[in-house]
Amino acid sequence: MSTPEIQSVTSSALSSTLLDRHPRRLIITGGAGFIGSNFVHYWGQHYPGDRVIVLDALTYAGNRANLAGLEGHANLRFVQGDICDRALIDTLLAEEAIDTIVHFAAESHVDRSILGPGAFVQTNVVGTFTLLEAFRQHWQAQGKPEQYRFHHVSTDEVYGSLNPDDPGFSEITPYAPNSPYSASKAGSDHLVRAYHHTYGMPTLMTNCSNNYGPYHFPEKLIPLMCINILLGKPLPVYGDGQNIRDWLYVEDHCSAIDTVIHRSQPGETYNVGGNNEVKNLDLVQMLCTLVDELAPDLPVRPSSNLITFVKDRPGHDRRYAIDATKIKTELGWTPSVTVEEGLRRTVQWYLNHPDWWQPLLSEEYQAYYRKVYA
Ligand code: NAD
Ligand code: TYD
Repeated sequence: MSTPEIQSVTSSALSSTLLDRHPRRLIITGGAGFIGSNFVHYWGQHYPGDRVIVLDALTYAGNRANLAGLEGHANLRFVQGDICDRALIDTLLAEEAIDTIVHFAAESHVDRSILGPGAFVQTNVVGTFTLLEAFRQHWQAQGKPEQYRFHHVSTDEVYGSLNPDDPGFSEITPYAPNSPYSASKAGSDHLVRAYHHTYGMPTLMTNCSNNYGPYHFPEKLIPLMCINILLGKPLPVYGDGQNIRDWLYVEDHCSAIDTVIHRSQPGETYNVGGNNEVKNLDLVQMLCTLVDELAPDLPVRPSSNLITFVKDRPGHDRRYAIDATKIKTELGWTPSVTVEEGLRRTVQWYLNHPDWWQPLLSEEYQAYYRKVYA
């Protein structure tokens, strides 16, 4: 499948080429989390006529404040619920006449999966199975309509770790997950693949590199470092800080999913990345420089004085990188935000929104922090 006339799809260009599209009726699972909430904002801006049901259990990572400005919108309904609750999902699929699931809900943090893997198996494997099975029966009961889609949002971490000279992960790289998080995501990916292969269910899958941007919970590297700089707390860099991640601005991830939902054949899978490989220590130093420039008052300046090497994460993957050739050549998607621009926007967002992040530094968060950084 090739569409060579498409050079590059930005989000606005894509929506303007789809003026004759049918409105969709979507469940967005995990829509109160980091990427899910960015996607709900994105979708509302691009497809305001679509019906959106956000299904989210509001775990520690879910936050109604991430959907600020959307509450009360006639086409948006928020449902607090668990993706393992089959009866709830059956009811929502039927009463809202859903044709599309975009599935973000997950336990998503590697360090938490090391402390307690059980919740990862439950939500990521059993929860994904529950959604797949409910959607299969709904799709079959409706006579297998051609426009139905089940889009599974996954990670590049299912492929394991790369050596310095290895090419980036492609869609045919063998799975080799190393953490309980990535193993549970790999399990869910295999179920999605099997539902297409066995039942012909119209699934889609994207495996994306590390995201960053607004509404990112401060257990992950970038928001944790931003907030610690603002508070004058140590910046804990694991091991030697030479691990590499490929960073993608969250809005680019949203436009990639949009592109796949609208342009891909059912059953396809695409790797999504930012072409932005950066060593952790370099990234933290970039953040320090940016916060030093943008924040008028800081407890410690230069903030790079706060960098502290701490004990390494067990089983820490050394390098992730994505070969995004397939989504570029088949669907015309490329990322549009450089890491310099994306980090600047992100730092400015955290500076402007202490009211968003201060309440997240809860007792639960402090207890988690003490365990990981003991
Ligand atoms: P997140 O932890 O910020 O949000 C997860 C959301 O899922 C939260 O709102 C939480 O309340 C909800 N949730 C958890 N368990 C649930 C359950 N049982 N039922 C219903 N809702 C539940 O995660 P994120 O970073 O936004 O990641 C979203 C998805 O994208 C995940 O599937 C993750 O594996 C994938 N992904 C993330 C990244 C990244 O860099 N963050 C990269 C690639 C892929
Ligand atoms: P993270 O944001 O947890 O994403 P992932 O583990 O899914 O890639 O971590 C990104 C990188 O930053 C990873 O190599 C671990 C490292 N890291 C630190 O060095 N210190 C920290 O405090 C955290 C949270 C992460």
